[in-house]
Amino acid sequence: MKEQLEKIRQDALQQIESCGDLKILDDLRVKYLGKKGELTAILKQMGGLSAEERPLVGQLANQVRSDLEEKLTNRISSLKADLEEKRLKDEALDVTLPGKKTELGKLHPLTVVMNEVKEIFLGMGFEVVDGPEVETDHYCFEALNMPPHHPARDTQDTFYINDNVLLRTQTSSVQIRTMENRKPPIRIISPGRVYRSDAIDATHSPIFHQIEGLVIDKGITLGDLFGTLELLMKKLYGNDTKIRLRPHHFPYTEPSAEVDLQCFNCGGKGCPMCKGEGYVELLGSGMVHPKVLEGCGIDPEVYSGFAFGIGLERITMGRFNITDMRMLYENDERFLNQF
Ligand code: DAH
Repeated sequence: MKEQLEKIRQDALQQIESCGDLKILDDLRVKYLGKKGELTAILKQMGGLSAEERPLVGQLANQVRSDLEEKLTNRISSLKADLEEKRLKDEALDVTLPGKKTELGKLHPLTVVMNEVKEIFLGMGFEVVDGPEVETDHYCFEALNMPPHHPARDTQDTFYINDNVLLRTQTSSVQIRTMENRKPPIRIISPGRVYRSDAIDATHSPIFHQIEGLVIDKGITLGDLFGTLELLMKKLYGNDTKIRLRPHHFPYTEPSAEVDLQCFNCGGKGCPMCKGEGYVELLGSGMVHPKVLEGCGIDPEVYSGFAFGIGLERITMGRFNITDMRMLYENDERFLNQF
């Protein structure tokens, strides 16, 4: 029995020593020291020993048990220490490495000016109204007094989904949508994206932005249009800003006018920037055509109103002295970070 105990001790110590896994160590503990373990099995046979032998074997068995327990405890703690050390090594951070800088974004110049324009109009009691970019012929052309084959459609050619559905060429479509759905007084602006099948150059893009304005009420005159746009331009470009109305033609306004801004470069004397004109063209506007009002169920004998369409790119370029429209879309941070 002594030999058996010695053998158990030898085998167990050796197995524990060479074991590198906590789970297997626990299995070894059960195998040797557990209730059904090998050591317990030996102790159970002690009844068959003589009175002299029993205490000696008992002592040896206790010694083996405590040796194994001690060995197990040491092995477990050294294994845990190894694992911890490995974890720390794996998770080590090199705090001397330079950090990653989080760049703070900023608003795009078009958004900056769009927000300013919205604020100015909200201050004058206007409401901001949205409209769809995919539009029908009715809202984009027909209801704006441009029947099929009207020559004004030529300068506003767009991308067609089918004969009737297209990408809107102007935010003027929102005028019609608003007037069809509401009774005057109406005082709205409608900013948004518009499309034209134009080639890209310094002043053209197939996708750009407009801000439409519409006021309908009793007794609205061209004077109201002028006053509103003059105030807008003074707020955008400073108090010395001068504008002028120049007769023009739009099928959906009568009379129609283009609004020009006195050249901020030469103060109206004429320079290369304004091509010697003294003024730069800014936007289209006019008094809403009686036919357009009638088509939307508004009586032109009772109500009148003005409308205008501002090119957001154009006023942004003027505002920040940007000479090439393409820069607004290239997302070059060296350009965008200047605003
Ligand atoms: N829709 C015109 C354009 O795209 C701009 C415009 C002109 C809008 C006159 C209007 C207006 O509301 O009355 O060039």
